[in-house]
Amino acid sequence: MISLIVAHDENMAIGKDGWMPWNLPEDLAHFKKVTSHHAILMGKVTFEGMKKPLPKRHTYVATRNQDYHFDHEDVTIIHDLPSFLTEWKEKSECLYVCGGANIYEQALPYVDEMWISYVYGNHEADTYFPAYQPKDFIVVSKEALKDFMIIHYRKK
Ligand SMILES: NC(=O)c1ccc[n+]([C@@H]2O[C@H](COP(=O)([O-])OP(=O)(O)OC[C@H]3O[C@@H](n4cnc5c(N)ncnc54)[C@H](OP(=O)(O)O)[C@@H]3O)[C@@H](O)[C@H]2O)c1
Repeated sequence: MISLIVAHDENMAIGKDGWMPWNLPEDLAHFKKVTSHHAILMGKVTFEGMKKPLPKRHTYVATRNQDYHFDHEDVTIIHDLPSFLTEWKEKSECLYVCGGANIYEQALPYVDEMWISYVYGNHEADTYFPAYQPKDFIVVSKEALKDFMIIHYRKK
């Protein structure tokens, strides 16, 4: 099973200068709650934007660079993203796709569900979530918080 988790604003912005365009501790807490004790996937740019691998999660990092190494027991480097996603889709264990834009775009056709934090307003940004078809998904739940709304979608 493949899930995707993202925070995007009303203009689909997700990133600015290698990090998020906003500071939302409540969203980071939501991310931690959903992804802890699961496998997560991210692109090398997003991975390198973090100071260290996230605890209590196994991180798969996508890069085309065959010479890239990261020596940590909770990190696995992958090079063949389509094969990785195709194989994971058959597993009952959930993989959370955690960005960034490049990886979201390639992973979208594989996802079974999405956790979207819909951040209110428009923010200065340089990275955007790819367009997707809302009609392909049903809304499982919505939770409105002060600065954003958590929407849980499941693929029809
Ligand atoms: N708001 C959110 O929820 C959220 C979540 C995550 C990230 N972000 C933001 O998104 C931005 C980063 O996004 P990004 O699109 O620039 O980068 P990214 O998706 O994190 O990483 C892109 C890298 O992934 C590797 N890659 C891509 N396709 C691949 C494939 N098919 N096979 C193997 N490796 C592949 C390449 O690494 P190599 O160049 O090494 O080959 C590529 O340069 C940052 O600003 C970050 O803060 C926001």
